[in-house]
Amino acid sequence: MKIAVFSTKPYDQEYFERYSQSHGLDFTFFETSLNSDTANLTSGFDVACVFVNDKVDDATIKMLSQNGIGLIALRCAGYNNVDLESAKRNRIKVVRVPAYSPEAVAEHAIALILTLNRKTHKAYNRIREGNFSLNKLIGFNLHGKIVGVVGTGTIGATFCRIIKGFGCEIIAFDKYESDELINFGVKYKPLDEVFRRADIISLHCPLTPETKHMINKESLALMKSGIMIINTSRGALINTADIIDGLTNYKVGYLGIDVYEQEENIFFKDLSEIIIQDDLILRLISFPNVLITSHQAYFTREAMQEITITTLSNIKEFEDGGLLSNEVV
Ligand code: NAI
Repeated sequence: MKIAVFSTKPYDQEYFERYSQSHGLDFTFFETSLNSDTANLTSGFDVACVFVNDKVDDATIKMLSQNGIGLIALRCAGYNNVDLESAKRNRIKVVRVPAYSPEAVAEHAIALILTLNRKTHKAYNRIREGNFSLNKLIGFNLHGKIVGVVGTGTIGATFCRIIKGFGCEIIAFDKYESDELINFGVKYKPLDEVFRRADIISLHCPLTPETKHMINKESLALMKSGIMIINTSRGALINTADIIDGLTNYKVGYLGIDVYEQEENIFFKDLSEIIIQDDLILRLISFPNVLITSHQAYFTREAMQEITITTLSNIKEFEDGGLLSNEVV
């Protein structure tokens, strides 16, 4: 079985090489992302293995089909970047890694909250320059604050368990309520009430047509002044222009994002010697109360191991022609 791995970084290759030896699979690693311009690279392969910012749209899938690709193996949980209808039409199966390490992402969301609040990133820089002043470093106690969680699936539930330990009150919105979380003390509320009452909002729902731009001018208007918004889910949950307005007019007190609507041309790349053309990210970077990480919430040793092992098993199941336990339908 020949596998074309797209958007490969050195750490992806390292993990695949470490765990694939006993599987007898033949990997070729491409640094480039998969899209309709690069889909011709899949000629002669059986499987295209992709990540969050590969653009697996209808045009790409048609080319994969012409090249004989039978499986798209996502090395991630979210699958909003794959046109599933087109995959079905072209008889290409799609598999993913549904839950590799919810702790990795939930813990990163906490890291964003703590860093934004207690400004440890600024203290680190100040002290390296001999500046031991505390001016403007003041934070707030998390204890007693109301945290609004949108999406209480695997990652959202893990986040709830951690943030409860800080003594926060948790209100949440999900289309499906979890009895386990209710027993744990999470109070499910309508989405607009979560927006109105929360001091901190953390987004953990998938990107769908329904959730796209759920943080926008209207929802921001409902929120408390000085709200902290954390997004480790998908960039397009937030309307970037609207959040910039919210930051500019002081409505948004803190913004922590691990994902960004237009991240595919920016994240995972070293652009330090390049003139960045995306004015929205440049504006976001300019705010003192915005913290951006480059889609690294998943990036722990445990998660990489789980992603690799599950992806190998997904491909093996396809090779064996049996049931695909992690098929996206
Ligand atoms: P999950 O499928 O276990 O949970 C998602 C939850 O969102 C479900 O409970 C679902 O009912 C809920 N939901 C669906 N539509 C909703 C809506 N309209 N409003 C509110 N809730 C809604 O997914 P999991 O594993 O918890 O992942 C959540 C998201 O985190 C993924 O979709 C992915 O986009 C993102 N993610 C980000 C990573 C990163 O490195 N930054 C890594 C892994 C996942």
